[in-house]
Amino acid sequence: MLPIDLSGKRALVAGVADDGGFGFAIAKALAEAGASVAVGTWPPALSIFETLLRRGKLDESRALSGGGLLDFERIYPLDAEYDRLDDVPSSLREHKRYRDRGDFTVDGLANALETDFGAPCLDVVVHSLANGPEVKNPLLETSRAGYLAAVGASAYSLTSLVQRLGPLMRPGGAFLALTYLAAERVVPGYGGGMSSAKAALESDTRQLAFEAGRKWGARVNAISAGPYASRAASAIGFISTMITYCEQNAPLPERIAAVEVGHAAAFLCSPLASGITGTVLHVDKGFHAMGTPADVAAIVG
Ligand SMILES: NC(=O)c1ccc[n+]([C@@H]2O[C@H](COP(=O)([O-])OP(=O)(O)OC[C@H]3O[C@@H](n4cnc5c(N)ncnc54)[C@H](O)[C@@H]3O)[C@@H](O)[C@H]2O)c1
Repeated sequence: MLPIDLSGKRALVAGVADDGGFGFAIAKALAEAGASVAVGTWPPALSIFETLLRRGKLDESRALSGGGLLDFERIYPLDAEYDRLDDVPSSLREHKRYRDRGDFTVDGLANALETDFGAPCLDVVVHSLANGPEVKNPLLETSRAGYLAAVGASAYSLTSLVQRLGPLMRPGGAFLALTYLAAERVVPGYGGGMSSAKAALESDTRQLAFEAGRKWGARVNAISAGPYASRAASAIGFISTMITYCEQNAPLPERIAAVEVGHAAAFLCSPLASGITGTVLHVDKGFHAMGTPADVAAIVG
């Protein structure tokens, strides 16, 4: 038997605020493989997440195959748009969802991890977050501010995490980001600079793999996931159309399940993938490989 064994390892998954997205599925898969898992949660979503956990609303999803529940070692407030508290506008620092959360920046996360567990203390860091305030706007109608906000929150945030958490990584550490086909092909409706942000994220995955590999011996990879109706994706508005389209046209005519992304993530972050870095792995039932719709013959007659 060749197991994915992460026992004794610690993971930080940034971008978990409910049980409906890839971050949660990845956290669960890492725990199933034996890792302890801490998460970083966006302050505006943090109280709801804490309430859901406290009331047992996530217990069914937290059930592990070997018995017991997925337990988060820590839940850190994290707004990955900000590197240090000095960068945060005072109006946001005073906001009721932020003001009692301490240092919720990437620096704050790194400091909290070091205080809680010492250094080095991490083996796996997953970046499973994205935000584009103008995502519903075509690129032709996207403002400079909206575009830069999308790239800052969704792409630079990976660089920031690797910069600050790299020094906390133990030998053989692995970073993983989540990307989407819109980085490399046109997906109408995925606007507001989000396609640009994902393209930057994929390029940065390669560059960071080189730099973090040479500096800390850490690996950096990304998963390009098929469409999935998470909370974030549902907010964009056309996710069910994308899911149906992929289901009808992918080599494997099925919709992606979050657990499949979780399993691929666990593999990529495990010692079994020690030779893999700087790569974007498609976990999308093969949809990215298609050059035409599956029924092109019917379309062209
Ligand atoms: N759902 C899809 O169809 C799909 C496909 C490919 C890739 N992805 C990517 O997967 C990742 C996870 O998304 P998901 O679809 O599972 O949705 P999700 O809603 O589960 O995750 C997005 C998370 O990002 C968090 N977030 C937003 N802004 C943040 C900030 N500034 N700082 C910290 N956290 C912030 C949200 O609170 C949320 O928890 C994203 O990178 C997304 O682009 C999603």
